[in-house]
Amino acid sequence: MTNGTADLIKEGTTELFVYKNKASVKGPSIRENVPFYNPAMELNRDVSVLVNQWFLNMSTTHVHILDGLAASGIRGIRLAHELSGDFEVTINDWNDQSVALIQQNIQKNQLENVSVYERDLGSLLLERRYHSIDIDPFGSPVYFFDAAVKSVYNKGIIACTATDTAALCGVFPQVCFRRYAAWPLHGPSMHEIGLRILLGCLCREAAKYERGIEPVLCYTTDHYVRLYVQIHNGKSTANASMAQYSIIPAKDVPLSQDSTALVGPLWLGNIQKKTAIQEIRTLASTKMLNTKHLLWKFLDLLEEEADAPPFFYTINDLSSLLKVSPPTMEHIIGQLKSKGFLVTRTHCTPTGFKTNAPLDIVTEVFK
Ligand SMILES: C[S@@+](CC[C@H](N)C(=O)[O-])C[C@H]1O[C@@H](n2cnc3c(N)ncnc32)[C@H](O)[C@@H]1O
Repeated sequence: MTNGTADLIKEGTTELFVYKNKASVKGPSIRENVPFYNPAMELNRDVSVLVNQWFLNMSTTHVHILDGLAASGIRGIRLAHELSGDFEVTINDWNDQSVALIQQNIQKNQLENVSVYERDLGSLLLERRYHSIDIDPFGSPVYFFDAAVKSVYNKGIIACTATDTAALCGVFPQVCFRRYAAWPLHGPSMHEIGLRILLGCLCREAAKYERGIEPVLCYTTDHYVRLYVQIHNGKSTANASMAQYSIIPAKDVPLSQDSTALVGPLWLGNIQKKTAIQEIRTLASTKMLNTKHLLWKFLDLLEEEADAPPFFYTINDLSSLLKVSPPTMEHIIGQLKSKGFLVTRTHCTPTGFKTNAPLDIVTEVFK
């Protein structure tokens, strides 16, 4: 049994046992041979609760949710305990210590709508079908994309985390090319480019099976990228998705220092579904979530930038390029709006702004 030194914690309305990492909140657990738990991912898991509730509210059938790489089971246990509707949850991890802890957490919460597997996720996905699949690995989720795309039902959700930001953001471009068949770009927009490379990769995997992708809620932090994507059957949706999958010249990315490189292929379509974000924001007020206030601000930003073009300027980088003192965000937004351009903040960085204004207009606003 694993419960000897496990800590009882509470996320959302769920109490469960985990092994707290004493040293770091960012990286993997340094306590050996115990299931991984990262308290810094609470907001990430709160978003999972909200997106799955949004999905359940739209569904007309019994929904089968899979927490495919579960560790302590915290995500799947929370979904089973905190969602309302007609659903069941499967929680899977190939580690026997994880499975023991997951069983303990199911008992603790007296859950009846959960089944547990101790399987390799890749082979599980090839055998069974799900409506909502969560892939939360150490590193890249790309190894599970093919099987997840085959497993997920029409209009189902694939959610994944990628923590290999050094590859996706261009610190190790060869790794990115090998793993995602895409060239990244190191620079101010690198996190958004990484997110779009990951989405592009999922788009390509889905298109093989004549399925298209619709990003619902996608975001990036310094440490990870997170996607929630709806998968739609049909050649025409696959074609429409592939039309958004392209290689671009680096010079098309604001503030790029490299005028000759190519970036991608990557996803150039929307990365948020605005109506979904609005509905998810409303749902946040109906749930007990410790990160609610942060979440609201975060969802506001996602909604604000939902219709904005890809990539962004950062105030400091553009100011130093133009050798001017940095204007305030309010000034930039006010000026560009008054000239009739679209301009939004971005969740990627507090000093970033997205606009459809050409560079000479943006420069004028800075001077
Ligand atoms: C980052 S942890 C999951 C964290 C968890 N989702 C959470 O929210 O706290 C990744 C887990 O995936 C498991 N794992 C890695 N590869 C696997 C595979 N191919 N099949 C099943 N489990 C796997 C590991 O044992 C580990 O517990």
